[in-house]
Amino acid sequence: MDETTTTAALPPVRHWPALDLFGVEFDPVLAELMREGPVTRIKLPNGDGWAWLVTRYDDVRAVTNDPRFSRKLVVENDVTRLAPHFIPVDGAVGFEDPPDHTRLRRAVAPAFTTRGVERLRERARRMLDELVEEVLADGPPADFTERLLGPFPLAVVCELMGVPSIDRPRMHEWTNLILSSAHGVERSQRAKEDMCAYFADLLSQPRDGDGDDDESVVGLLGTAVANGEITASEAVGLALLIQIGGEAVTNNCGNMLFVLLTHPEHMARLRAEPDVRPRAIDELLRYIPHRSAVGLSRIALEDVTVAGVRIRAGEPVYVSYLAANRDPHVFPAPESLDFDRSPNPHVAFGYGPHFCVGAMLARMESELLVDAFLDRFPGLRFAVPVEEVRFRRGALIRGPESLPVTW
Ligand code: HEM
Repeated sequence: MDETTTTAALPPVRHWPALDLFGVEFDPVLAELMREGPVTRIKLPNGDGWAWLVTRYDDVRAVTNDPRFSRKLVVENDVTRLAPHFIPVDGAVGFEDPPDHTRLRRAVAPAFTTRGVERLRERARRMLDELVEEVLADGPPADFTERLLGPFPLAVVCELMGVPSIDRPRMHEWTNLILSSAHGVERSQRAKEDMCAYFADLLSQPRDGDGDDDESVVGLLGTAVANGEITASEAVGLALLIQIGGEAVTNNCGNMLFVLLTHPEHMARLRAEPDVRPRAIDELLRYIPHRSAVGLSRIALEDVTVAGVRIRAGEPVYVSYLAANRDPHVFPAPESLDFDRSPNPHVAFGYGPHFCVGAMLARMESELLVDAFLDRFPGLRFAVPVEEVRFRRGALIRGPESLPVTW
């Protein structure tokens, strides 16, 4: 095949603009790309050139679990992307390939196992109870993003990390600045450096050796550095990424509450049948388009054929977990919110080696928050007309900016 034939056979490159969508509306551009083919080509607002996009469930799982696609190479390339700024840190697990990736994840794994997360559940419940009591004492109306959805995941991730509660506000501020370019790339860069310096300092402090301390993420990282399993700068990079990731729950649970408030019959069922709640949370995770466009790409290390399309060595590929979660071959009637859906093998937390570190933690926090919304606030409803609820603009991760509710 000469070059002209190859180019002629390629699907067109579609421009995928950054859209500010309302609520949990599914991105119309993504829906169109899914209709166009299992493998299409896209150009996002920032970076250079175009990239492949893979949308079907089986293909998404195949690509994300295939060592012929590298994350490490992404750092060296200005791949077309949604984010205007791009600030990878040394040791950031998102940009590593096995075996280094495996080595880094192993260092913190005990904090994220069922046991690690369950250890935290009671403390998390108490922290949430305190926040709920304050909201109840002040009375309706209240902005749940400000009062519960923001502070709770922040408190939990700080507890998990071993960050003292007095430092929570600055963690929150740095996280926001790192994840957004609204204040300029330099400000984001400075926030990243400040957070790195903070964790470098925390890691260098002598641990008091009590069990709780050693099982915090900073405690685990300190031990891994002392044992020569990871370097000090890798430990800092890992701490930063986990700390930032921790606040994803704010947006995701904000979207969950938005969906429940706009589906009163589903909400009533969860109040009447608490046993359905864990299943419902999985269905909400599947149904909610958690992010705008796509996240991090992968680069082919050699020629690979995906769904009959040849992806050449060096070409960037995105998968869409959002699209995979709407694949009708796996999820019949994918557009409907069905709390009886079973099985529900959604990929809201990703798939393969980069599967979300905090998945179990996020689920635990979601369970506590949904229980609190349903059980502590009977009659919970919007305090403003639904169309007045404001959603984050220009955001990588979608979610309500505020959720004014009454009860
Ligand atoms: C509902 C909330 C959350 C959702 C929907 C979510 C989703 C995801 C997804 C889709 C990925 C990327 C998989 C890939 O790169 O292919 C990811 C990675 C990651 N998440 Fe989460 N996440 C959530 C909460 C959290 C929490 C609470 C933490 C930390 C405490 C966290 C930390 C991370 C980290 C560190 C990675 C990078 C993993 C790697 O590349 O090996 N996430 N998450």
